[in-house]
Amino acid sequence: MIEKYIDLSKNMDHCGSGSNKKCYVFDDVVLLKGDFVNPEAFSIKKEKLDLLKNNGVNVCSILDNAIVDGVRYELQERAKGEELFNYSLIRSSEGHQKYLSILDSLSKQDISFFKKFLEDWYMILKMGVDVDPSKSTNFFYNNDSICFIDLNLIDNIESRLSWLFKEAAVVLRGGGLLWQCKDVYEEANERVKIIYQKLGCAALELGADIDDYVEFLDPNNEYELKDYFEKYQNKSRSL
Ligand SMILES: Nc1ncnc2c1ncn2[C@@H]1O[C@H](COP(=O)(O)OP(=O)(O)OP(=O)(O)O)[C@@H](O)[C@H]1O
Ligand SMILES: [Mg+2]
Repeated sequence: MIEKYIDLSKNMDHCGSGSNKKCYVFDDVVLLKGDFVNPEAFSIKKEKLDLLKNNGVNVCSILDNAIVDGVRYELQERAKGEELFNYSLIRSSEGHQKYLSILDSLSKQDISFFKKFLEDWYMILKMGVDVDPSKSTNFFYNNDSICFIDLNLIDNIESRLSWLFKEAAVVLRGGGLLWQCKDVYEEANERVKIIYQKLGCAALELGADIDDYVEFLDPNNEYELKDYFEKYQNKSRSL
């Protein structure tokens, strides 16, 4: 199956965002090419991703792999939507506007959207797999849900779990893009505040240590998160 796509890729341009792999995009699948597929890890990772997928977690199944002329390839299901944020957005004012429009769309999502994102990431970690959160290109967004790509086997699950809620917030903010897309800083920061609030409510519903979350994201009380979550918790208690 993969051979057909390897042949087709020879006459195609690859999409340019990965730092290690070249990605050839087809209708429903992508072909990844690069020095990354560890043949021993392949079947373990495939099994774990299939299990996650069968449990409703937003990941892409790995369909096949091959080594041809010493080059490694992997065929995967194609994630819906596009990269959540891309650092190339900092380069132009259109990019800054696009950054703002993505934040705007995220800030309008229900708490259930944020809860699903956290629950999926939690399940991924529990399965012994993880995503590099420093790259928002590893998260695909289609205005409806977030899919995790570029997943790798890990073994330090517990230390990663303690960062989950905080890292999720940084990913949804687009990391440092907030300060780099200077044209739209004020409007973007208003959306970031709403995203932090909704993600925090989702985290609370999942039993997170909200003080830790607040301390990390809002050390100077710029977003008044402490107050916000106290009110939110009191309201939930009195319901
Ligand atoms: N399953 C997929 N569906 C859609 N696009 C994908 C998929 N896998 C990879 N891509 C695209 O190819 C790019 C590079 O893939 P990937 O992130 O796996 O490689 P990478 O080189 O390790 O990237 P980096 O090290 O920069 O995170 C992704 O950012 C994405 O744009
Ligand atoms: Mg990547």
